[in-house]
Parts: sequence; structure tokens; C-alpha cells
Amino acid sequence: MSEHNYTPSSKFGKWFNDRLPLLTLANHLTDYPTPKNLNYWWTFGGILTFCLITQIITGLILAMHYVAHADLAFGSVEHIMRNVNYGWLIRYVHANGASMFFLAVYIHIFRSLYYGSYKSPREMIWILGMIIYVLMMAAAFMGYVLPWGQMSFWGATVITNLFSAIPLVGESVVTWLWGGYSVDNPTLTRFFSLHYLIPFLILGLVVLHIWALHVPGNNNPIGIDLKKPSKDTVPFHPYIVIKDLFALLIFLIIFALFVFYSPNILGHADNYIEANPLVTPAHIVPEWYLLPFYAILRSVPDKLLGVIAMFSAIFVLIILPWLDTSKVRSTIFRPLYKQFYWFLIADVLILGYVGAMPAEGIYLLVARVGTAYYFIHFLVILPILGRLEKPLEIPTSITDPVLGGSVQPSFVKSDKKKI
Ligand code: HEM
Repeated sequence: MSEHNYTPSSKFGKWFNDRLPLLTLANHLTDYPTPKNLNYWWTFGGILTFCLITQIITGLILAMHYVAHADLAFGSVEHIMRNVNYGWLIRYVHANGASMFFLAVYIHIFRSLYYGSYKSPREMIWILGMIIYVLMMAAAFMGYVLPWGQMSFWGATVITNLFSAIPLVGESVVTWLWGGYSVDNPTLTRFFSLHYLIPFLILGLVVLHIWALHVPGNNNPIGIDLKKPSKDTVPFHPYIVIKDLFALLIFLIIFALFVFYSPNILGHADNYIEANPLVTPAHIVPEWYLLPFYAILRSVPDKLLGVIAMFSAIFVLIILPWLDTSKVRSTIFRPLYKQFYWFLIADVLILGYVGAMPAEGIYLLVARVGTAYYFIHFLVILPILGRLEKPLEIPTSITDPVLGGSVQPSFVKSDKKKI
């Protein structure tokens, strides 16, 4: 690649770069050959990077005013909202930023599922992504505890209590997590400490994620390897930079609509009531982005098996590159998988919905069917489909569908717009 021949033009640049090749790295990043046919679903990696940085900056400012003590936390958040200059804005950006971060990560994950970006040779990018995702859930869960409202307290109680399902040592593990015999001040202070730490771990993992991406290069909507890199790619700067910035602008408009017009719509009203260990809220629900997992947890009647099911739901995603036996990456060429892909999206949305409802009657039944289907999709349908499905004819290069070549005429007609 071009960076091997890169020499800075100035004398100082050369002196600096010989000792610390940061300019070579910058040159690699700007020149990075990117497939020409990437669509807007590929802009979410950049959007996610923006979200992470925004969460870190707003979080640092909040931490300057927040007091991690069970007697003072709730009041300190009200102090931020009312007295700190622009405190309301910083808090609303941080709280809604978490939701926007998850919205972007779900689009990013389902983009990878649609275009087979998790398949060889990109398994490492995928696994690093899954570790990031699990850490994001941990950070969001602990962050939600910090305002010390009713949902904070009871959410923390329900979720930490799950560990009591572990045979023999469960109760001791929960006492150890709490730092006492109930969720209380020691729990709050350790959650604050970890909530502060995790985003920096995520930042380090994002560097590895992008490093691993730059080894094979990007996948693309038709999912084939680049046969003629010089013809099939454009340099990252300015082509992708400008496209990513445009997508970020649209994303920011939606983000701003939440922050300025309905900053509390995604939160729960009960969290504006200070934590009270003596009053349990009628329904304890997590934030929207954790609801499908919550539905899976509650769909199993046994506590331990419910916890196992919930963790398995994440585990099947981690091993996905080995469950999907199809060699064809992009769903565009997999007519049967395309149907099942949309069934899976519907299933996850339904699980999310029933996760917000009481775990009884029809909701419980739907949660059980939805949970069963989720596992059937990954453990039964994917391995079998890869062997049975006959994919459509695949173009020989990513420019073929545009410039002509050995492709199916129907593909040229329907997918020209994607290129
Ligand atoms: C903080 C969170 C994350 C950040 C900042 C991030 C960043 C990025 C960036 C910048 C790219 C390249 C551009 C793009 O493809 O959109 C990328 C690609 C990718 N990411 Fe992520 N990512 C994050 C989380 C995840 C998660 C949770 C997963 C899945 C488990 C994931 C899976 C992938 C895959 C498979 C690719 C390769 C895409 C391709 O070339 O088709 N990422 N990521």
C-alpha cells in the first residue's frame, strides 16, 4: 500500500516521522482504499465513534458535579439540571446519547448481519465488536443506577439478584457485588467507578476493531473480495469522509430532536422519584435497548435457566461466524436467507415489545415463542440454510453490475441503485 513509500514533505515532518511514524499512520488512514460501492449503512462505524467520544466528554463534565453517594446522588443530579451552567444540556445529551449510541450500534450490527461482514476473514472485527457491545450494555446498566432514582435502585436490585441463581455460591456472589446485604452506598460507588472506566476500555477496543478492519479491508454491499483494487476502490479521504460527515449531520438532527423536544421520552418517569428501598415500583423495566434480552430472561420459568438463556442469546452472536455455513456473504444473493433475516428483525422487535410488558398471559406466551425462534434462527436455520440454499449468480467484480459483465440481468436492474 502507498504508506510504505510515504515520506513527509517538510524536514521537521521527516525528523518526527522517523522517530514516531504518526504521519505514516495518518497517511494510511486517509489513503485507505475503500470499496466504491459502500452505501449509507457503512456510515454507522463513524457515527459510533462520534457517539463514544460524545459520551466520554459529556460524562467527564457530569462527573465534575455528580456526587457518588447514596444520600447525595439524586440531589446532585437535580443540582446539575438546575444550577450548573448548561448542566441540563450536558445531562440530556449524555442520557439520550446512550440511546442514540445503541440505536447506531443495532443498525451497525444488523448491517453486518445483512451483508455477512462477520464472515471470514472478518471474524476478529466481529468478535471485538461483540466484546464492545457487551461492555456497552454493562456501562449503560451501571450509568442508569447513578441518578439513584426508583428505577435505578430497583433495576440494579433485579439484575444483580440474577447472580443468586448460580448454584452454591450465588448468594455470596451477590453480597460481594453489592458490597453489603442490599443495593446501597457501596454498590453505588463501585458502579460509578466502573461506569467511568468502561468507556475507556471500549475506546481501546475500538482501536483494535478498526485495526482488525484495516487488515482485510471493508466488506461491501455485494460481499465479494476486491478483484481489481485499483478500479474498485476510492481513497478514504475525501470520498468516505464527506459521506460519513453528511450521515453524521442527519444523525445529529435526530439526536437534537430528542434532546431539545422530548428529552425524557426514552426514560422512565419513576426515575425522577428518589430511590426508596421500601417501595417497589409496579413494573421494573430496563431501558429500551436491553428489552429483548430482558424478555428472553423472563420467558424461562426457572431463574438459573433464564439467566443461562439470556447469556446464550449473546453467546450465539459471538460464535455466529461459525454457525453460518454459507460461503456467500451478502444477503442480496441469498433469497431464502433474506426472508429469515427479516423474520429475525421482527422477532427481536417483538421480544423488545413484550420485554416492556408484564411477564404474564399472552405477553409471556409471545416471549416464549420469540425466544425459541431466536435460538432456532441461529442454531438450526443458519447452519442448514448455508448448505441447502442455492445462491443467485454473483458478479465477478464490484464494478461489473455498473459497467456490465458476467452477472444476472435481474441483478443489474434491481441493484444498480445500491452501487
Ligand atoms: C463503540 C462501538 C463501535 C464502533 C465505534 C465501531 C466502529 C467501526 C468502524 C469505524 C467500522 C468501519 C466503518 C463501518 O463499517 O461502518 C466498523 C466496522 C465493523 N464493525 Fe464496528 N464499531 C463498533 C461496534 C461494533 C459492534 C458492536 C459490532 C458487532 C458485534 C461491530 C461489527 C463490525 C463489523 C463486522 C465491521 C466490518 C464492516 C464491513 O467492512 O462490512 N462493530 N466498526
